[in-house]
Amino acid sequence: MNIATLELSNNLILAPLAGISDLPFRTIARRFGCGLCYSEMVSADGIVRGQRKTLDILRSGPGDRPLIAQIFGSDPGVLAAAAEIIEERGLADAVDINMGCPVKPVIRRGAGAALMREPERVRLIIREARRSVRIPLTVKIRSGWSPTEKNALEIARIAEGEGADAVAVHPRTASQGFSGRSDWSVIAEVKAALKIPVIGNGDVETPGDASALLGQTGCDGIMIGRAALGNPWIFRNALRHLAGEGIELANLEEKRRVIGEHLEMSVGRYGEVTGVKNFRKHLFWYTKGLRGSAAFRKGAGTVTGKGNVLAVISAYFETLAEVAAEEKMPLDFLGKLNISFNQSKAFSRLGPGGTEER
Ligand SMILES: Cc1cc2nc3c(=O)[nH]c(=O)nc-3n(C[C@H](O)[C@H](O)[C@H](O)COP(=O)(O)O)c2cc1C
Repeated sequence: MNIATLELSNNLILAPLAGISDLPFRTIARRFGCGLCYSEMVSADGIVRGQRKTLDILRSGPGDRPLIAQIFGSDPGVLAAAAEIIEERGLADAVDINMGCPVKPVIRRGAGAALMREPERVRLIIREARRSVRIPLTVKIRSGWSPTEKNALEIARIAEGEGADAVAVHPRTASQGFSGRSDWSVIAEVKAALKIPVIGNGDVETPGDASALLGQTGCDGIMIGRAALGNPWIFRNALRHLAGEGIELANLEEKRRVIGEHLEMSVGRYGEVTGVKNFRKHLFWYTKGLRGSAAFRKGAGTVTGKGNVLAVISAYFETLAEVAAEEKMPLDFLGKLNISFNQSKAFSRLGPGGTEER
């Protein structure tokens, strides 16, 4: 799959996820085969004002390519100027304009999904951004604002007409938030009408869902968001499944190694205090479904310091491995075992001051 001049090694795409799809998470996703990553959404206004915090969200690194920087805003001039800065500074390979975010602070400013209620503004936004940059330009939309205002096709056609290079569709309305199911027929409808690549998104939870989305909609790219949380292996297994190969579940050893590497990268990216804090949610997702994980998470949620976090992770995974060995179960199936996690064993390794009250 190509998006204009941007060549992808495959069509599995990590969704833009605010607070989540940062450099460490993208690096891990790519390691398991993800063919394209989006940044977290960033304020176009913040970029244009040169706000350090905003620009820092776009921090990338060697190997973190191909990358699409997603911006949000409502002013065509500001969005175009932000896109230009991204191109000039080489912050990403392409720019995406967020037209799907339903959260209040964003829609209150007329940005995100609120744009879908203003097709003429959408036209101006894409026109100006298109004039400003040569790198690929994409948009990400929902199915519309509300059940009575569904206009994904209209917006997608405007985007294509004004020179956008791809459209990603998350077929829920803004008023739906994340409730109900994605209506993949909207993706099929948009795909049938457009010549540019259409990226399907919404509720791809398994490798089987990835091929079902392709089959049911004919979409070009498959965007995965929530299913990748704590589970970057979804990319490997969706790729394998699409190639007709069997899936390869992550065993305990691999999981533990990736968790450790992710923590290291998070600390490298943000420094120890923030890096550990940001990493906690990932740790929770990685261990979700494993036996004893509720107790583990309760304890690990208050542990501070990289070394201490690594120690409790090691203890937890050693306990899991011991139980798996005793039960003569393949480690892959550990999630199905019924063990209780020995918290005191894990926490006895902590030095003084290793936990915090929350
Ligand atoms: C925590 C979280 C943060 C998100 N942040 C963004 C964002 O910054 N920009 C965006 O366009 N969509 C964002 N989304 C929406 C996702 O990109 C995606 O469209 C949605 O989760 C549906 O895909 P999924 O079912 O694979 O998760 C976010 C979703 C979640 C759950």
